[in-house]
Amino acid sequence: MASEKIDILLLGAGGREHALLMKLADSPRAGKLYVAPGNGGMLQLAKKAPINPDDPTEVATWAKDNGIGLVVIGPEAPLVAGVADAVRAAGIACFGPNAQAAQMEGSKKFAKEVMARAGAPTAAYRSFTDRAACEAYVREVGGPVVVKADGLAAGKGVIVAQTTEEALAGVDECFSGAFGDAGATVVVEEMLEGPECSLLALTDGVTVVPLATSQDHKRAYDGDKGPNTGGMGVYSPVPILLDGELERMVQIEQQVIDQLRADGITYSGCLYGGFMLTKDGPKVLEFNARFGDPETQVVLPRMQGDLVEAFLACDNGTLDPAMLSWGDNWAVSVVLASAGYPGSYEKGKVITGIDAAEACEGVTVYHAGTALDEDGNVVTAGGRVLDVTAVADTFEQARANAYAACELIDFEGKQYRSDIGLKAILGRENL
Ligand code: AMP
Ligand code: GLY
Repeated sequence: MASEKIDILLLGAGGREHALLMKLADSPRAGKLYVAPGNGGMLQLAKKAPINPDDPTEVATWAKDNGIGLVVIGPEAPLVAGVADAVRAAGIACFGPNAQAAQMEGSKKFAKEVMARAGAPTAAYRSFTDRAACEAYVREVGGPVVVKADGLAAGKGVIVAQTTEEALAGVDECFSGAFGDAGATVVVEEMLEGPECSLLALTDGVTVVPLATSQDHKRAYDGDKGPNTGGMGVYSPVPILLDGELERMVQIEQQVIDQLRADGITYSGCLYGGFMLTKDGPKVLEFNARFGDPETQVVLPRMQGDLVEAFLACDNGTLDPAMLSWGDNWAVSVVLASAGYPGSYEKGKVITGIDAAEACEGVTVYHAGTALDEDGNVVTAGGRVLDVTAVADTFEQARANAYAACELIDFEGKQYRSDIGLKAILGRENL
């Protein structure tokens, strides 16, 4: 029955998962909600499932024993570990690609080979398992060049090197084990230039339904300075696209999904395309096999539609573009981080002012690195602590409301970028 409620288990603990959970909870189909491991915000809406989210058997067994009707996988680690395979094998609907399809994120080499067969434009590259051969190639092509650890390296493992020396240092870092096993294979690729744009899409393996565009801010400090982070802020939509760029990005994602299907791999879930808008058109920087974080925190609040129905349709091959629609609104999200992030930081700082921030027009505060202490206080528990998101009719209003809300929240060591979204105002010619 279409109106039957189903109980849902959501894996993950970030701002992305808090945003997913809130949207799932809005659905008339949502029954009991469980999370593993969850965070201080998610645990106010859902119960904790006492399982390791990265363990396929543990997740599938618990879901079966507890009558779960849909498992939603937020982060990449459980996908690559095969949690979706185990859940589906147990006869339970799952949102997220199987382990083979998740190689689009899990192995840059795999993704590049699929892109080559699909005719999807991306940076020219070579991959190496031999250190000497890799160094020789880097000396031959010289900087600027990009060096990447092949496997999952938690957003690190990419060295954008301006000079040959920096590139060689990056190769050394990868092969010396700085990124663990992820660095045993090293990809060396051409440096692309242009603004970046993220395009998330839902897919059932055949139909691709693009979500709204968004733009992340990966560097820690204002002016895109400082070390790379998981993302310090984001906005949606991206107003600087030229004619035809969105259509081209959608086409590239469709080509990749079609190629995987031709290879015998059904990719169902979210396909995240990270694009560089080069003067020769959009080119793929990377694919991720999941929703983006923090992109989800601006895309989902702008979306209308039943996320439970859409996720079930991705799983059972009935995805239809009419399931989702978009308003003309804007969203801006600013990350409040702990002092020291992305390096080491302290935890356990009491957070105040979340309610006051959420009383601001159009503001939602998504929890990322938070926990509840014994007294029920929300305390810091991670590097990226909160995503303060505002939705409004204009970009300027969304930005102003998000920053006003940021000032109302306090915890020891709070740091955030003050220039999130300024690129949207500058215009393409000034980037
Ligand atoms: P990735 O994890 O592959 O998305 O890389 C992280 C960031 O490194 C990207 O968001 C880009 O800013 C940068 N990057 C990665 N690959 C390239 C490339 N081929 N050219 C220029 N910048 C790149
Ligand atoms: N926002 C970057 C990512 O989710 O990988």
